[in-house]
Amino acid sequence: MRGKRVGIVGIGNVGSTCAYILAMNGGCHEVILRSSSNPTKAKGLALDMSQAVQAARKHTVVKHAEKPEDLTDCDVVVIAAGSPRLPGMNRDDLLIKNAEIMRTVMADIVKYSPNAIIIPVSNPLDAMVYVALKESGWPRNRVLGMAGILDSARMAHFVYEKLGYGAGQIRCSVMGGHGDDMVPLPRFSTVAGVPLTDLLSWEEIHEIVEKTKKGGAEIVSLLRDGSAYYAPAKAASLMAEAVLSDTKQIYPCSVMLDGEYGYKNTVSGVPVMIGATGAEKVIEANLNDDQDRKFAKSVGSVVELVDALYTNNFYTR
Ligand code: 2OP
Repeated sequence: MRGKRVGIVGIGNVGSTCAYILAMNGGCHEVILRSSSNPTKAKGLALDMSQAVQAARKHTVVKHAEKPEDLTDCDVVVIAAGSPRLPGMNRDDLLIKNAEIMRTVMADIVKYSPNAIIIPVSNPLDAMVYVALKESGWPRNRVLGMAGILDSARMAHFVYEKLGYGAGQIRCSVMGGHGDDMVPLPRFSTVAGVPLTDLLSWEEIHEIVEKTKKGGAEIVSLLRDGSAYYAPAKAASLMAEAVLSDTKQIYPCSVMLDGEYGYKNTVSGVPVMIGATGAEKVIEANLNDDQDRKFAKSVGSVVELVDALYTNNFYTR
């Protein structure tokens, strides 16, 4: 039996950092880097990471794919290819450009890694999940968008900033699309099991919620030449590892809903149990009226984005 193979398409900061984390953690046998625009850089990064692997006395083999067919029979493919978000842009500005890239990438994956689980990372994330599903024609369990772990981690960071203690013991929950109306859920957030709502005032919680929603934009404006990558890469690697090791862990992911939370044929971020076959179960939490209303608004924004794929003739009805 061969070991597990992960493909990374797109070798910008997110893709390469994700590859590095996977190689260092040793949860897969091979990591293969693919860049259609810069295969030489992919080769250089693969060489550098291979040497880091030796320094760390790990066993993961890091390679690069010169041609699409070199990215073959992957168990998981992380798709971080696409234009990054720059200052002044919101995630939705990237829609058509990145949808075209996703279309090309998925055509190769369907051909050469027909059994892979796909983890899109490119923005606008929820629309990219929709495009990956539509281009592949695969069942919904095989495409899991990375955003919820990132947004929840951002919220946990802001809780830590506010409290000044509890790092590593803060569990936050964010649902909905990876956009400006994502839905941070203080009622589902805890510090060492203690409800957040027992530790902070509603005013403080409101501040954390707003900072979480703007968490990506804050980093874009500070970096000036791109968007966040350490936290997104760590989040994508956690999802890949959950698939590779069939852990059945629950992570918030962007998936196609099929009746859950009252929505069908709509992509949104919800808690998902991840295993060897991808999104093995969507977990349905009971939302109160306020949470439900906010979730509906966020779903509505993703629906509008997906509609824009049709009104811009990327798809026809
Ligand atoms: C982020 O939230 C840009 O979506 C990316 O950092």
